[in-house]
Amino acid sequence: MIRFSLENSVSATAALVIPFFESENIAKQIPDIAGIDSSSLLSILETKDFEGKLHQTTWVYTGEIEVPRVLFLGLGKKESCGVRHWKQAVGVAVVAAQLKKITEISLVLPQEFTKKFGISEFAHMSVVSSEIANYAFDIHKEKSAQTLPLKKCVYIAELSPAEKKLFQEGIKTGLVIAESINMTRGLGNTPASQMTPAFLAESAKKLQKKNPKIKVKILSRPEIEKLKMGCFFGVASGSAQEPKFIIAEYFQGKKNEAPTVLVGKGITFDTGGLSLKPWDSMIDMKFDMLGGATALGILDAAANLNLKKNIVVLIPTCENMPSGTAYRPDDILVAMDGTSVLVENTDAEGRLILADALCYAARYNPKEVIDFATLTGACLVAIGNERSGLFSQDEKLVEGLNASSQKVGEQLWRLPLGEEFTEAIKCEVADIKNIGGVGGHPRFGGASVAAAFLEHFAKFPWAHIDLSCSHYGGKGKAWIRNGANGFGIETVVEYLK
Ligand code: BES
Ligand code: ZN
Ligand code: ZN
Repeated sequence: MIRFSLENSVSATAALVIPFFESENIAKQIPDIAGIDSSSLLSILETKDFEGKLHQTTWVYTGEIEVPRVLFLGLGKKESCGVRHWKQAVGVAVVAAQLKKITEISLVLPQEFTKKFGISEFAHMSVVSSEIANYAFDIHKEKSAQTLPLKKCVYIAELSPAEKKLFQEGIKTGLVIAESINMTRGLGNTPASQMTPAFLAESAKKLQKKNPKIKVKILSRPEIEKLKMGCFFGVASGSAQEPKFIIAEYFQGKKNEAPTVLVGKGITFDTGGLSLKPWDSMIDMKFDMLGGATALGILDAAANLNLKKNIVVLIPTCENMPSGTAYRPDDILVAMDGTSVLVENTDAEGRLILADALCYAARYNPKEVIDFATLTGACLVAIGNERSGLFSQDEKLVEGLNASSQKVGEQLWRLPLGEEFTEAIKCEVADIKNIGGVGGHPRFGGASVAAAFLEHFAKFPWAHIDLSCSHYGGKGKAWIRNGANGFGIETVVEYLK
């Protein structure tokens, strides 16, 4: 973890990071900071090498002992620089420092953001994005190739004592949330050989050890069978790993207040089962438990922020494997509520395990249920990996989640539910089937059909988040490393607050 502090001078061991908005007048934006002679910075501006474009960076070496190096950091146009761009820019600075093996930065805070975001929010957002950028999953690489994490970050701002207090509170909040986010990312990045259902269950137990207000209960095969979770059981049947049903409760709200239930898909590896995925679609399927890990991250943050809320997390977790004991296409499974489901594709397994978890959620008489799932490739095709799909018929929930996501700079995009999708899962031999398309192809409208399947089991105010952007594939970005990114935790923690 980085040590954060608030000061108004620069230390010589640190790299000074100065953010700039894209404009003609870069020179005017150089802050007046004791110890730096701005004339040494002006030469760069005589060239057009740095224009303040979003994500742009340029190192400037001043030749001065007090501040030997300065990172010019682009924020893009002032009008379009909101929370999302600011957070990305902070991440860019952290990664840029890491790449130079610099372990300390002094970051100048643009004055306008303290007003635009609110002081404690500004601190909190800056801390979260720094910690996210500082995280790397590289324990399997040789030591010398591992990233050298940033150790210290000094924010440079002139604030009144009251503002300072708010800022310090924001730092604390940010650290709690960031820790939960990086915990979730760690779970997602862990290979499935280690990240078994039992391992995920143990990880949930660890949250209780850290904060005894969280109570964790793990159900194993006999209990799952006894509960008649036939859909979950069906999916788990091909694997040598025992399925687990994770229940984590945090009751710190009013006694009689109905809880918010968070349900997360916990497929620790998705081969597709007998409807086996081609090799290139199977890569990254270790991330198929990120819905569950996200729900745990939210609970961890909520508990450690001491939110006065009643929150329950439910995670059905198993592996989806092909084998002689695996469930098959044409099988008919029966969910906990008695719904019979024809399996036409064993790769549409997430909705099956979530069906039983949603049935179980009804036991709590919940105020609302939000589920998180890396559910469909179709959602990724529809909206790409910079947003996640949001499905709900509950306008208040949609409004609340959208507003929270905008506040923290995450992006949700509402996709439809509706009669054509509900129609698509109707079936002649069972109550419903696990795949269906709207139009000429079984994949048409795939993300909404999957959501409509879940909707069948959601007998309470409910929203479904298809986590199509829960991880980055390929090369990653300048502000975050490749792999699990913790999407959704900040939004829902903000929503719960
Ligand atoms: N875990 C996958 C969805 C997925 C695919 C997530 C790619 C992230 C990236 C899910 O279990 C799945 O395989 N869905 C199928 C559904 C289809 C068979 C109707 C899909 O999307 O292809
Ligand atoms: Zn699948
Ligand atoms: Zn899956």
